[in-house]
Amino acid sequence: MLEIKNVTVKFGGLTAVKNMSMTIEKGKIHSLIGPNGAGKTTLFNVITGVVKPVSGEVIFQGKNLLKVKPEEIIYKGITRTFQNLQLFNFLNVYENIYSGIVHNFNGDIIQLINGKSKSFEKDIRDKILGIAELLGIKNRLSSYPTQLSYGILKRIEIARAIVSEPKIILFDEPAAGLNTEETNEIEDIFKLINKKREITILLVEHDMSLVMNISDKITVMSFGEKIAEGTPDEIANNEEVIKVYLGENENA
Ligand SMILES: Nc1ncnc2c1ncn2[C@@H]1O[C@H](COP(=O)(O)OP(=O)(O)O)[C@@H](O)[C@H]1O
Ligand SMILES: [Mg+2]
Repeated sequence: MLEIKNVTVKFGGLTAVKNMSMTIEKGKIHSLIGPNGAGKTTLFNVITGVVKPVSGEVIFQGKNLLKVKPEEIIYKGITRTFQNLQLFNFLNVYENIYSGIVHNFNGDIIQLINGKSKSFEKDIRDKILGIAELLGIKNRLSSYPTQLSYGILKRIEIARAIVSEPKIILFDEPAAGLNTEETNEIEDIFKLINKKREITILLVEHDMSLVMNISDKITVMSFGEKIAEGTPDEIANNEEVIKVYLGENENA
């Protein structure tokens, strides 16, 4: 579904990503792990078009993503969340989720000309209510972000990401700042949106129990390069991974 081929990214003299390749298969939960500074977020930025690699290719459903403008990536069915929450505090929860809707303008204009905007509006409302129900935030729709716990805000962010009906979502450290209970909730939500909404997930995350529990496949990066790839079991027992990452994580 999404293929990263020999991607290299440089920031001045620093090579942040070096000849990186990985393939994310449709319907899977694929995690990308590695120490801070390994190049994980930079790779997300390449996929979403905000960072241009010096070489390499990114192919999504047979199309070269590097030719797509960053603001148009979302029309291809790719969304992401950020390391820091980016919700609007002046909008309520319903409106925040609504802000994730991507309009297919051709479709909209035809709807309006035919006087169907009312049913179109209802479709959107039903869609938002359905997602809010799925994520357990239906009773928070009229609250404002500043009134809610961090765990709930994370769910709102996920709701906003899936309201555009993406084919794949890139999550950058979604469990950062969450307690164990909230992390377990996020784990359930990922399983739900993966299975029920058939959304492929690419996950960057430091919480190893979350990664090991939900990943079909794990890719490990260190200093911009891929050092290992495999199932959770294979990665947990890979000596180099333990040396450069998992060991360090245990001591932390
Ligand atoms: N916009 C940027 N300009 C310069 N250097 C950057 C930029 N973004 C990231 N880097 C550097 O690239 C390397 C990889 O960073 P990043 O992709 O954020 O790593 P990770 O997400 O794995 O922690 C780091 O050395 C970081 O300092
Ligand atoms: Mg990062």
